[in-house]
Amino acid sequence: MSGEKIIGLLTGGGDAPGLNAVIRGIVYKGRKSGYRIFGFHEGWRGLLDKDYTELDIDNVRDIHTKGGTILGSSRTNIYKRKDGEQTVLANFKDLNLHVLIAIGGEDTLGVADKLFKSGLNVVGVPKTIDNDVNATDYTFGFDTAINRVAETLEWLHTTTESHRRVMVVEVMGRHAGWITLHGGIAGGAHFILIPEIPFDTDELCQQILERHKKFKYTIVAVAEGAEDPELSRHIMHTAQKDEFGHIQLGTGIGIGEVLSKEIGDRTKLETRAMVLGHLQRGGRPSAFDIVLGTRFGVKVIELIEKEGFGKMVGLSGSEIIFADLEKGVGELKTVPEERYEKAKLFFG
Ligand code: F6P
Repeated sequence: MSGEKIIGLLTGGGDAPGLNAVIRGIVYKGRKSGYRIFGFHEGWRGLLDKDYTELDIDNVRDIHTKGGTILGSSRTNIYKRKDGEQTVLANFKDLNLHVLIAIGGEDTLGVADKLFKSGLNVVGVPKTIDNDVNATDYTFGFDTAINRVAETLEWLHTTTESHRRVMVVEVMGRHAGWITLHGGIAGGAHFILIPEIPFDTDELCQQILERHKKFKYTIVAVAEGAEDPELSRHIMHTAQKDEFGHIQLGTGIGIGEVLSKEIGDRTKLETRAMVLGHLQRGGRPSAFDIVLGTRFGVKVIELIEKEGFGKMVGLSGSEIIFADLEKGVGELKTVPEERYEKAKLFFG
């Protein structure tokens, strides 16, 4: 046991279905390749406080079908804590870690990249339901989220139609509209609004009135970060910020509620707002996310065996690839205008 190299592992940011499959993949492959594995609790908080559990195959045997993360997660940012980086560097040394695997989105991977540049052996696994991390075609969690959104939108059709209403459904995605776009297309939303393309509420109201002449009901899928610059003023005031400086849209009045009221006032149609919120992230991962998470977990150990520090795993086509962490965190992967234009063919 004593000669085995130690791998540290943490999950940071919003949880995503498939995280436990990654952890299980890391532990199975890591143990069978002769490493010890320390799982830090609640993201960077666990590494700052040396709070961890040593993981073996028996700890993770059946966890891949469960949502969330057995390690817990948080949005702790070591660079917002007094002597945060020095504490992490000292703890890494004290615990005799060979390498740290950071599983997270742009914020967690951004911290990982900084630590790598400060001399630590760090590798990354991209995670977010938002699917907005660069250097990977898909992140796990996204498939579960879009299936959840699509199914919910489909259920909403019958009640919305029965009451001749406009239903405004707010979907997660602060900076990227992938969940709203894919979930909206698959669930039959009549209009889809995403952060990348500002919308005009007057124009939307005209289109809704036009649709109601024939169909008498409408479902609007709106990403939480979508903006009509006129309306967005109401929203920003009410939300709090996290340690990475991001507005936490779920903490205030969201665009769904504001837009629903505006549509009601301007069209005189009956409207309702629904926030799908954390339903999109909770519960069992889809088979796609379990398999992608498992492949990422196994492959990141291969990355460590090759000493590919400063890199992350990603999906390119159907292959798992290695990319520089810097590439993953440099820029967000947002919806290209041309993809949105194609979706607009089906609006109305
Ligand atoms: O980053 C993933 C995500 O689910 C976003 O889509 C959403 O804006 C945010 O997390 C919500 O965060 P919290 O769980 O802190 O409310």
